[in-house]
Amino acid sequence: MISVLEKSPTLHWLGRQLFNRDDPAAFFDPLLERINPMWVRQYTPARVKAIYNETADTKTFVLAPAGRWKGFAAGQHVNIGIDVDGVRRNRTFSLSSSPIQWRADGTVTLTIKRLPGGLVTNWMHDHLEPGAVIGLGEAFGDFQIPDPQEPALYIAGGSGITPVLSQLETMAASDYRAPVTLLYFVRTQADVIAAEKLHALASRWPAVTLKVFATSDTHPPQFLSEQHLDEVPGIAARRCYLCGPKGLMDLANDLLYRRGIGEDRIHSTFFSAPTANLDTESLGGAVHFQRSNLDVSSEGDAVLLDIAEVAKLSPRYGCRMGICHQCSCRKTSGTVINRLTGKASGPGEETIQLCVSVPSGPVSVEL
Ligand code: FES
Repeated sequence: MISVLEKSPTLHWLGRQLFNRDDPAAFFDPLLERINPMWVRQYTPARVKAIYNETADTKTFVLAPAGRWKGFAAGQHVNIGIDVDGVRRNRTFSLSSSPIQWRADGTVTLTIKRLPGGLVTNWMHDHLEPGAVIGLGEAFGDFQIPDPQEPALYIAGGSGITPVLSQLETMAASDYRAPVTLLYFVRTQADVIAAEKLHALASRWPAVTLKVFATSDTHPPQFLSEQHLDEVPGIAARRCYLCGPKGLMDLANDLLYRRGIGEDRIHSTFFSAPTANLDTESLGGAVHFQRSNLDVSSEGDAVLLDIAEVAKLSPRYGCRMGICHQCSCRKTSGTVINRLTGKASGPGEETIQLCVSVPSGPVSVEL
């Protein structure tokens, strides 16, 4: 049955024509899921093998994806699809385990903090149990381990440690000998995620220096400062990796630039999309969805993905923050502004990301 769905142009066409869906799996999966959750195609099914607490508000979920999942590089993200009160929700998280673990025993981990008011994170903490099946997308993202080996500096904050854990575990297991320093900022010592794992790493991997700073445990609170960076030997030659809350990332970028460390040596991964300051007066316009033959108007800085969903279309998407490219779509005419950079597209035909593209005047897209 699965191969029929995959190979049948008729079903693909039917899915698109009847249900306005670019990916018929988005329509058929709920039906298949009722018969056997391991049959769904839009995501790879992943069974929850175990769940354990990291801190009072952070848990690690151990997942075993079905065999067709393609694997990942340390530091990458995945989208998950999860049903909350009968509605399929998609969210993006970093993998916190190493690819070496996945190759050894077929499991991966997601380390997830409850977000205040967060529908999916709270549901996962309160209701997800071992034995359940969730959907796992293919991995994406270019937050990568230095290659060839270079001295590295990681600056992480809170749950921004998750992709860093994956990378450090991988580097430790691959005999990474260049010096690596992690400066990890948390609110209090009780908020340190994976404390045991970090201590174990430090004791078995001589190239790494781990420093944890509990910002609220001191008076005044100790945020990242010049002094922290002064204590990193040979910092000018290090490749820098940042992951954490926006305030920490902005501060780290600023301090590193001031030391002459160029943009090309600073790599960041985000919790949420940074947004450019847009002049909303000049934004919005008539949007024509070609395949669906729908015309809608938009105002302000609404992105095409939101506009399409309000028009009851169901374009494919993943992260909704410009990282995964799952929402890429052909624009046939008109100008859009990239919400992340503030840059305008050309007026002609090109591929755009619906989740970060804001119409600036009339726009036509193949959807
Ligand atoms: S949904 Fe990920 S880039 Fe648009």
